[in-house]
Amino acid sequence: MTIEVRDLRKIYRMGVERIHALDGVDLSIERGEFVAIMGASGSGKSTIMNILGCLDKPTSGEYILNGKPTHKMGAIELARVRNEQIGFVFQTFELLPRATALRNVQLPLQYSRRRFFGSRRMAKRALERVGLADRMSHRSSQMSGGQRQRVAVARALVNRPAILLADEPTGNLDSTTTHEIIALFTELHEEGQTIIIVTHEEEVAGHAQRIVRLCDGLIMSDFPTNEDPIHTAFVQQAASMASARARREPAGRPMLGPTRTHESQEAAQ
Ligand SMILES: Nc1ncnc2c1ncn2[C@@H]1O[C@H](COP(=O)(O)OP(=O)(O)O)[C@@H](O)[C@H]1O
Ligand SMILES: [Mg+2]
Repeated sequence: MTIEVRDLRKIYRMGVERIHALDGVDLSIERGEFVAIMGASGSGKSTIMNILGCLDKPTSGEYILNGKPTHKMGAIELARVRNEQIGFVFQTFELLPRATALRNVQLPLQYSRRRFFGSRRMAKRALERVGLADRMSHRSSQMSGGQRQRVAVARALVNRPAILLADEPTGNLDSTTTHEIIALFTELHEEGQTIIIVTHEEEVAGHAQRIVRLCDGLIMSDFPTNEDPIHTAFVQQAASMASARARREPAGRPMLGPTRTHESQEAAQ
């Protein structure tokens, strides 16, 4: 088991108020799984991701990563686990804007015990892996959102982490770029990478094998994707909308695209 979480709780104190962001979560994730975490805003998704990523500590409960109880670790040991076992991708990329793609990807290796084994070569390989071989010396401020997120994925992967965590990685991307990033995650999963992703979008979650839904700091449901009732209903609805659209479209004409949708709306009136 890669991840074992037992009765995890996180309480934030805001003056006299106490916010139970996680209220007793149990979760096990095996090596190689691709899991989507879903839930309304404020349900505790980022809180659990930050704990799984060793960026934050729980108020109580256990988190065992690759057999090691992280809740017993001190700050230094936790920082080392974070650096060597975790790759984290954020919604807002979190790159150094003026540094090149290569420099951004090399950064985590500076703090790593593996830095002696050619950090430049490892960073290059990670950038090649995400399809940015020809953008290595571009500054991140000169890149599109999709390219920036691919740099961030390369940075997350450069240490060959046990788990890749992504908190709403497509939240700032358009639909084309979203598909690119999800295709990349799917490939990484097929290569054996353990991936946990937070998303609001059912379509994105549909690429994972398993969907864990949070509500008010508790796990509301945890199903394989194709057995998840909410997801299954979403897929059926999307399919019936697509077939209704296909019936409206005259045969042989190209579908989709903003112009096409606009025309068919006019035609329907
Ligand atoms: N640093 C913090 N201080 C106080 N409350 C927080 C903090 N971070 C999160 N919260 C609260 O904890 C709850 C869960 O937040 P979060 O994990 O960010 O939810 P999500 O990512 O699902 O939107 C929310 O009520 C949020 O307002
Ligand atoms: Mg969040």
